[in-house]
Order: sequence, then structure tokens, then C-alpha cells
Amino acid sequence: MNWLPEQASDFAGRVDTVIWFVTIISLISFILITIGLVYFAIKYRRRSENDETPYITGNLFLEMLWTVIPSILVMVIFVYGFVVYRDMRTPPQDALEVNVTGKQWLWQFQYQNGKSTINELYVQQDKPVKVVMRSDDVIHSFFVPAFRVKQDLIGGMYTYLWFTPTKVGIFDLYCAEYCGTGHSAMLGKVIVMSPEAYDRWEKGEEEEEGKAVAGLPPDQLGEKLYKERGCNACHSIDGSTLVGPTWKGLFGHEVSLTDGSTVTADENYIRQSILEPQAKMVKGFGPVMPAFKGILSDDDVAAIIAYIKTLK
Ligand code: CUA
Repeated sequence: MNWLPEQASDFAGRVDTVIWFVTIISLISFILITIGLVYFAIKYRRRSENDETPYITGNLFLEMLWTVIPSILVMVIFVYGFVVYRDMRTPPQDALEVNVTGKQWLWQFQYQNGKSTINELYVQQDKPVKVVMRSDDVIHSFFVPAFRVKQDLIGGMYTYLWFTPTKVGIFDLYCAEYCGTGHSAMLGKVIVMSPEAYDRWEKGEEEEEGKAVAGLPPDQLGEKLYKERGCNACHSIDGSTLVGPTWKGLFGHEVSLTDGSTVTADENYIRQSILEPQAKMVKGFGPVMPAFKGILSDDDVAAIIAYIKTLK
């Protein structure tokens, strides 16, 4: 059935079976009840002013039937649902752990090899992954429809989920908990790689950025990063004010800061504002931007500056 998302983890088929089971039972019940309702309404309608309602005390057979059959169905749904749920809450010992931080409004992933990525989760095909999640601020929710997994990220505690991706490909990651202005832009990708490709990625032999964007001029790379690293959740490029200042017409212009001083938005100012956003706060905006130090490389920052320069 292709109106459900693609099945790309080994939970997907089992979760869908529960959904279909419940849906089909509901559908059959709905049809039977509706037919019965209409049939009885017509057959036993009041025909005259003197119609008398028959006095019925009970029917043991019917009562057993409508008690026992639904009870069995409900128990089957419960047991099957519980078994799937239990498996989904029990990560295997050999699962690869990835730390996930949700913040307004991006996803940060930290891997055991020390790598860190934004809005892109790299995993290996057929290798179980346990994601250990926390939030830097409000509640977010990690949701990958193709894997049929969803879990809230909550400030002050860790939550987790696990899955085994079964297909090589790129799958959508959504924030499924309303978390403020940038919620709808808090999107990511899960990149499932073959074991060989993952191995190369893990060892850093294949710079995923370099591979994907080889030959891109800096401003185009900057535009790509603007969309992929979550900048677009807070910074518009058309002059409108979102959570952060717009990038349109920013470069080379005076910016008023919260301490009353002004600064010219040159390369150094933009670089510092990306790496340590709280250093020079623009007047009228709150200190909500996460620091990108250690997340964006010098080349990335240079590319973003080149992109900002094009937004006149
Ligand atoms: Cu994060 Cu919605």
C-alpha cells in the first residue's frame, strides 16, 4: 500500500501490520454496525400511534458473541502491539550510539568517532543505531516516518530510540513537536549508507561535503549550507524579520547592537556571529542562536559569507 511512507527500517513492516490490523478491524466493525443500524431502523420503525415496544429481557447467545469476539480482538491488538513496542524500546548491545541534540531550530548529531553534523544523520545500512537525545531548550520530537520511529527530546533528561535502517537512501527527519517560530523549518535528513561507504565516511576518507559539492563556487555552497544547516529557520533572505536578522542587504552595512554601539557587517563580524553568536548581539533580537564553532568549518563559514555578499 503506497499511501504509507516507504518502509526503510526493520520496524516499519511490523508497525504497519499493527496499523493495518486495527484499521481493517475498525473498518469491518464500522460497516457491520452501520448496516445493522440502518436495517433495524427501517425494520423496527414505529408504524402507527399504537405500536407497542416488545419487552425483551436478554439473549445469552448474542451477549456472549458481542463480548467474547471484541475481547479476543482487543487482546490480540494489545499483545501484538506490546511485543512490537517492547522490541522498539530494547536496543541491542551492539547498536551504534549517536548523540542527538535538538535546539531551536536545528538537529546536531555527534558520533563516536568525534564527527559532528548538523541536520544530517549518517548511519549504516543493516546496522542498529541507538540515538540518545537531549534538548537544549524546549521539547522537540525526532520523527523519521520511513523508519516508523518517533520520540520526544526533553530538556533536563535523556531519551532514546533505536532502529535498523534496511535501505540505502536519504530519508526525511522531522521535528514533530511544535517548538516555536522555526518549528516547520526544523528538518533534517537521515543518510543511510552501504557498509563500505559508511566505513569511508567514518574514517573521514570521504569528506561528505567535499563529495557532494565538489566544484561548487563558494556562494552556491553557502546557499546550500544556508538551507541544510538550518540557517533558513531564523534568517530570511528577502528582508523579512524572523527570529534572527535578515541576511538581505546585511553585508557592508551598519548594524546596531544591544549595547548601543554599531558595527559594520564585514567578514570578521559575520564569522564571529556564526561561531560565537552571543558576542555581538543585534538590537531587537534574543540570544537564541546556537554557536557553530566546531560545527561549521572555516571553508563553510567563508562560503556562507560569500553567499551573504550576494544578497544585496
Ligand atoms: Cu523542534 Cu518543532
